[in-house]
Amino acid sequence: EDDFEDREDFLFKILLVGDSAVGKSNLLSRFTKNEFDPDSKSTIGVEFATKIVQVEDKIIKAQIWDTAGQERYNSVTTSYYRGAVGALVVYDITIHQSFENVNKWINEVIENSNPNILLLLVGNKIDLEDTRQVTTEEAKTFAEERNLAFIETSALASTNVDQAFISILKRIL
Ligand code: GTP
Ligand code: MG
Repeated sequence: EDDFEDREDFLFKILLVGDSAVGKSNLLSRFTKNEFDPDSKSTIGVEFATKIVQVEDKIIKAQIWDTAGQERYNSVTTSYYRGAVGALVVYDITIHQSFENVNKWINEVIENSNPNILLLLVGNKIDLEDTRQVTTEEAKTFAEERNLAFIETSALASTNVDQAFISILKRIL
């Protein structure tokens, strides 16, 4: 309806973290604009985009923050983390090292935001099944050990992207 955007029950700040090139910016653009860029450049600094979604009977403004995974940007200001209620910790299923670095990202989020922040482990690029290096089973086991929710996505193929963001919003609600 017309006043959909006027009625806003909650504003939730969600972070995207993970190594460079795992697909954070494309997950964001797929979710907020239904766009995918096959030649996207590494993010410089901090960007955010918002999307208004209905979850159950609530209208939620999801404000999703995105920054570079590159080491040289690792000192992003604490304002990136401040006030965040959820984070998608993203790895690339075709690069095992990006999965091994998930622990580092989780620690970074917990240290800089709040210990109760809700985390979702996201294995992206499942359209590249042929070059997969991280099995679903391996990630699932890790997620259970660390008590994380877990999903596999493809920003390219639009697989599970909405589900990833909506599921974390649901748990925050
Ligand atoms: P930084 O900004 O450097 O931290 O990287 P990022 O995590 O934002 O990665 P980005 O979204 O820029 O994607 C990196 C590369 O992977 C780009 O060439 C994308 O087109 C590609 N890519 C992103 N998501 C997918 C996906 O689901 N499948 C495939 N095949 N490629 C993807
Ligand atoms: Mg980026």
